[in-house]
Amino acid sequence: MTQYRLRADSAQATQEFGRHLASLLFPGAVVLLSGDLGAGKTALTQGIGAGLGVSEPITSPTFTIVQEYASGRLPLIHADLYRIGDPSELAELGFEEYFERGGVVVIEWPDQLGELRPPEYLELRLDYLGPAERRITVAAHGSAYARLAEELVGGGPLPVESTSI
Ligand SMILES: Nc1ncnc2c1ncn2[C@@H]1O[C@H](COP(=O)(O)OP(=O)(O)OP(=O)(O)O)[C@@H](O)[C@H]1O
Ligand SMILES: [Mg+2]
Repeated sequence: MTQYRLRADSAQATQEFGRHLASLLFPGAVVLLSGDLGAGKTALTQGIGAGLGVSEPITSPTFTIVQEYASGRLPLIHADLYRIGDPSELAELGFEEYFERGGVVVIEWPDQLGELRPPEYLELRLDYLGPAERRITVAAHGSAYARLAEELVGGGPLPVESTSI
């Protein structure tokens, strides 16, 4: 699995990266966003929303777990699983159904998915480097996402720090 390490030197740069990612997303695409509190997962999601043409403001869905935005090129489903106590709660909520909507599913705190983690997805990890600097590690799971990752990194706005295979 190829991993790419990128660097974003501002929240705007991260959002610009999200916009570019949005242009490559397809119906049913899954993007898992990991990283600590305040790493920039929601900021990146705001960029994805802007790129899809979502007109509503994208806020942190922490208290609702899932927020859906229908005004863009594809439906955007934004989930924040931080407050889920146990992955079994997600199954009870019928969370799997969100993967079948033909939208783009963006999930913060994806370790909470447990067995609901789909077989193929794009994984982005954000790491804090400094007040405005973040490392974004891109990893593709599945061939469709491998192609997407190549375009995302090669034709994208962020400098590539390293590529490892
Ligand atoms: N390069 C950067 N990329 C992303 N966000 C940045 C960057 N530099 C500064 N920031 C700031 O860091 C904060 C990131 O907050 P955000 O809510 O996106 O984090 P999060 O990862 O979603 O956290 P949580 O786990 O609490 O949901 C914002 O205030 C944003 O402006
Ligand atoms: Mg967030």
